[in-house]
Amino acid sequence: MAVRIGLAFNLKPEAPANPAGAEPSSPTSPDESSARALRDDLPQPDLYAEWDEPATIDAVERALGTVGQVYRLEADESFPARLALIRPDFVFNIAEGLYGPNREGHVPAICEFLGIPYHASDPLTLGLSLDKRRAKEVLAYRGVPTAPFVLARSPGDARKVDLPFPLFVKPCFEGSGKGVSVKSLCRNRSQLVRQVSKLLATYAEPVLIETYLPGLEFTVAVLGNGAEARCLPIVGMRFDTLPAGAPPIYGYEAKWLWDSPSHPLEIFDCPAHIPEALAGQVRAVALAAYHALECRDWCRVDIRCDAANRPMVVELNPLPGILPDPRDNSCFPKAARAAGMGYDDLIRTVADIAWRRISGRSLLAEVA
Ligand SMILES: Nc1ncnc2c1ncn2[C@@H]1O[C@H](COP(=O)(O)OP(=O)(O)O)[C@@H](O)[C@H]1O
Ligand SMILES: [Mg+2]
Repeated sequence: MAVRIGLAFNLKPEAPANPAGAEPSSPTSPDESSARALRDDLPQPDLYAEWDEPATIDAVERALGTVGQVYRLEADESFPARLALIRPDFVFNIAEGLYGPNREGHVPAICEFLGIPYHASDPLTLGLSLDKRRAKEVLAYRGVPTAPFVLARSPGDARKVDLPFPLFVKPCFEGSGKGVSVKSLCRNRSQLVRQVSKLLATYAEPVLIETYLPGLEFTVAVLGNGAEARCLPIVGMRFDTLPAGAPPIYGYEAKWLWDSPSHPLEIFDCPAHIPEALAGQVRAVALAAYHALECRDWCRVDIRCDAANRPMVVELNPLPGILPDPRDNSCFPKAARAAGMGYDDLIRTVADIAWRRISGRSLLAEVA
């Protein structure tokens, strides 16, 4: 009998209808991504930036449908009741959640409450990774390199920071470029205090202040568990593709404003053209971070080199972005393609890794 897979997701809501006379856009148009990411009608324009497009959810559903029977489970208020009713064999979880720093752990926690297994990391790992400061504390304790940092809860904290400039600031509990902009790079105290104050007011959460890492940047897709965890080809960032004069930062502007399928930013270099010795160090740091945070099944690790060219962990993404269209800039699928794995293969492989961890059986073998 087919394995019953619940697909948990959060669907990015559409913006309200266009003003009278404006052409309605097609709901599947890929160029909508930036319009959907920035919503002027919301108190926080990037509130839903982390949520998924219909095309992504459909693509994951299609791929999972080749290895099991899929039940779509939107992670809204009715999710716990529907999950309890359907009781799938396991949940494939791409839901980002909405409220608070534990939002990414809500779906896995509900699964645990109901005794239903799920794919990917547990609520503790998801909560730790979303809290960039706590993730860095665990990394530092485990000897995984990461930039020096302090936390600011008030503009006064920013006035007292004694780390050397330049510094980099970002909200502590966000993802998908939220709150990371060209203004995150602060070269002096007045820039620092201004930007920290702005982020505190916008996101109502602590702000992480870190040493600015000026070197090469990479992101590494990791697949598997325990000794079988492995890195897909490294993605390098080509900052020379950013608009002239823009600082080398892969933040909100680069993710959502300067990149669209019709005008793609050719920012990713995969496999990264770097010496093998550096590639080896980057992979080792990525795997060390993956194991330190006890990630499961998959995760994408962001890494950037310091002034001495040493790779440092910037953050972990245990719910990685997985846009299906190859024209979209989406690192995990891109790294998979560089390893000869198409989108469906990637999703099937991740589901198989999860199902082997959960049941000891191969999902791929069960449908063969
Ligand atoms: N300490 C830092 N030094 C230099 N650049 C940084 C630093 N932290 C973040 N960045 C830049 O900002 C980008 C986004 O930061 P990140 O923490 O990965 O946030 P997000 O969760 O939005 O991806 C990184 O990809 C990198 O380009
Ligand atoms: Mg990142």
